[in-house]
Amino acid sequence: MLDFEDDITATPATPHTPIPAPPTQAGTPAGRVRAADKRAINGATDVNQLVPFKYHWAWEKYLAGCANHWMPQEVSMQRDIAQWKDPNALSEDERLIVKRNLGFFVTADSLAANNIVLGTYRHITAPECRQYLLRQAFEEAIHTHAYQYIVESLGLDEGEIFNAYQEVSSIRDKDDFLIPFIDTLTDPDFRTGTPEADQQLLRSLIVFACIMEGIFFYVGFVQILALGRQNKMTGAAEQYQYILRDESLHCNFGVDLINTIKQENPHLWTPAFREEIRALIDHGVKLEYRYAEDTMPRGVLGLNAPMFKEYLRFVANRRCRQIGVDELYPGAENPFPWMSEMIDLKKEKNFFETRVTEYQTGGTLTWD
Ligand SMILES: [Fe+2]
Ligand SMILES: [Fe+2]
Repeated sequence: MLDFEDDITATPATPHTPIPAPPTQAGTPAGRVRAADKRAINGATDVNQLVPFKYHWAWEKYLAGCANHWMPQEVSMQRDIAQWKDPNALSEDERLIVKRNLGFFVTADSLAANNIVLGTYRHITAPECRQYLLRQAFEEAIHTHAYQYIVESLGLDEGEIFNAYQEVSSIRDKDDFLIPFIDTLTDPDFRTGTPEADQQLLRSLIVFACIMEGIFFYVGFVQILALGRQNKMTGAAEQYQYILRDESLHCNFGVDLINTIKQENPHLWTPAFREEIRALIDHGVKLEYRYAEDTMPRGVLGLNAPMFKEYLRFVANRRCRQIGVDELYPGAENPFPWMSEMIDLKKEKNFFETRVTEYQTGGTLTWD
């Protein structure tokens, strides 16, 4: 059993380990890019030259993302549609979970995509990382497509679902928390290059990878995958399973990028900054727990809100360890060990058996 679902691709935090020296490039003609000169931020090398590689981890994640390619319309929604129409197939609480879930995610992945293309991308000077971010941006578009496809398939009220992030306070509060950090990166006047600005960038990257993609998605993922495990909404659950796999990689890329920036700029990683990050993660856990309570006013599917408190603490501890800050909730345990099996597609091909096309052609994952 894996320690946690995204251990498959995780790189452990090594906050103070120096980056290994790149190969000697003696004799490189003047003006050509040397790997040794590349930097994740504030670099001066040509961002149009992908090679010589320095950040192999980013290139490998790009290849892994491509190997995981999928499209929403390949997943049959026929059973979901029949269940949604059948007044006896789903309880009111289960219907609320589906609608709240989509209400959060239909806009969350657009926020994520805009944060990448309008914000993060231009501040990152490593072309290997930019290559990954381009892939990630397309995956966010696929996720928005998937949620839209579910909304359309079930014939839900689009106005209600797409406006939920404005109208449902537990969703709005999560987005209100995120938006200032996204606005920092998308502000056309924002420039890195000073310790304050570089810390601002690092803070936003941590909020995005570790809190948004690393905590705010997890109540929703557990809920829909729990429905699928009970043979309900299996098409939606299948799509969420692929999205969870993608998001796990996004989160791990973000963690590697954060740790690389720390290694290259150790002066940014002050004790005060680390404490600030821990407080932000703690705040994120509280917001996500409120969302869990709002979406599950009563116990449903064998789940209840207090189980999520423990789960979120378990997940948050992992995020703390990944970026090298002290755990917030020592001793928290995982009440949903089955989540590890859900994401581990090395073992479980097509868990809900609704998908008709397979892109994987070997390489990163082996389907057996
Ligand atoms: Fe996404
Ligand atoms: Fe993502």
